[in-house]
Amino acid sequence: MSDSYAQTLAEANRAVADAAAVVATDRQRPSYHLMTAANWINDPNGPVYHDGYWHMFFQHNPYVADFGPMGWGHVRSPDLVRWEHCPIAIMPTPGSYDGAGCWSGSVVIQDGLPHMMYSGVADMTLWSVEDDIPPSDRQRIPQGYYDEFLLEIDQETQCIATSRDGMQTWDKHAANPVIPATPPGLDLIGFRDPFLWKEGDGRWYMLLGSGIKGRGGVALLYRSPDLLEWEYLNPLYIGDPAESGINWECPNFLDLGAKHMLVVSPHGRPIYWLGQYVERAFQPAGAARRLDWGDVFYAPNSLCDPAGRWLMWGWVREARPRDQYAAAGWASCLTLPREITLDAAGELRVKPAAEMKMLRGESLFADLVEVSEGNTHLLGGARGDRLEISCRVESADCEALRIRFRQSPDGEQFTELVYDFRASTLRLLREQSTDTAAVTVAPCECQLVLGAGEALDLTIYLDNSVVEVYANERLTMTSRIYPSRVDAQGLSLDCSGGSAKAHVAIWPMASIWGDTR
Ligand code: FRU
Repeated sequence: MSDSYAQTLAEANRAVADAAAVVATDRQRPSYHLMTAANWINDPNGPVYHDGYWHMFFQHNPYVADFGPMGWGHVRSPDLVRWEHCPIAIMPTPGSYDGAGCWSGSVVIQDGLPHMMYSGVADMTLWSVEDDIPPSDRQRIPQGYYDEFLLEIDQETQCIATSRDGMQTWDKHAANPVIPATPPGLDLIGFRDPFLWKEGDGRWYMLLGSGIKGRGGVALLYRSPDLLEWEYLNPLYIGDPAESGINWECPNFLDLGAKHMLVVSPHGRPIYWLGQYVERAFQPAGAARRLDWGDVFYAPNSLCDPAGRWLMWGWVREARPRDQYAAAGWASCLTLPREITLDAAGELRVKPAAEMKMLRGESLFADLVEVSEGNTHLLGGARGDRLEISCRVESADCEALRIRFRQSPDGEQFTELVYDFRASTLRLLREQSTDTAAVTVAPCECQLVLGAGEALDLTIYLDNSVVEVYANERLTMTSRIYPSRVDAQGLSLDCSGGSAKAHVAIWPMASIWGDTR
């Protein structure tokens, strides 16, 4: 490591440490979701289990709470529950192949040695979509699909770094960039975010997110014997832009046993397909589906742990304007680890990793609760802003069931999760969650059609400004609220148009950082 690069890292670490002292007491800051000590985080990168620790890396601008010259931040945990901040893993080397950013990627272990594969961005020259996509095609693309980083393609390359000291420091490889250019003959939009796995033939396989101009988003499949020499094979899958946009970021490919799952982030809501992996190509068994039904979830990344369990984390964005989060000195976090499985029918199941139960404090409330129209239940007066709230419906003969949280005593401020039994919709309503201007308060909504005999089973993880909803192990909804009133801590359950009985349990959640916040 050169002296000047060592200094770059030292300055970056100092910037985070200086800012950390200021943000620690911010009431909007989550305490059991992974995040930086201060300033900016976006995508989860390179989750890996190695030598008794879970490691998570992430896109990190250590200097301000805003997008910028991105390095890889690093946290680690012995148990997925207690985490510690580690020194920043890598930062851009000014003037080099990664001078404008060390972008998203993966970490794998080869011959006992951790290898990080990331996208180097030499320069942030932006490519104009309008230049390349005819208006007729643009109309076919769902709104909001290309408002992010569409870089000039020759700025993106794939790079390697290795660590010899338990992932505390990383050396960028002398052969970087190990993939210096796009495959010949393909006219591509993006070229980034390596996702790696090893197959039975002992070789590494890798996806890169991209888009073929005039065709659609694509995951490009590569192969390597040693992580240094890479051979481009073929597109794993090319999407229809009407369904999945023109360019894909952060592809993930999960071998779930009976099926494979392809996940992409198409500059809009992340989507997935379930299907078969046949002769190095993916054959989806149906249409793309949304991975999360909130409004802040993006760029998920996953790992298969030593027990064969697939865990996935997503980036939880802010829902307040840039000037507000930049002023706060921190922005965004990651979701809880989500376990991804298939059920007997081959459908996707998603639930929080079982370890999250270890974060529970002493129960605040646990009872079978009966509600009817006009009779609101106050759940034993339980209160809080960092809670797990579980509501399993035993019987319901009503139109809608509502769980309110972050409610002020006078009822002025609150957020509510409502299940409408007639429309089979789950909605998160935030119109009264804050009086802070310009915060997004539009409802999040999804369809949740209950099968015959299937009971509604909701879990809400509340972590100051973060709300994660898990419904029937089938759907997640990740969103943000920014209650401005300190006394907005109350909870209640009620229903309209009939009555319902539900098992409700509420726990306070401990910080993952070992502090007492
Ligand atoms: C997705 C993304 C990735 C890129 C990274 C840059 O959010 O745009 O494609 O590698 O973020 O921080």
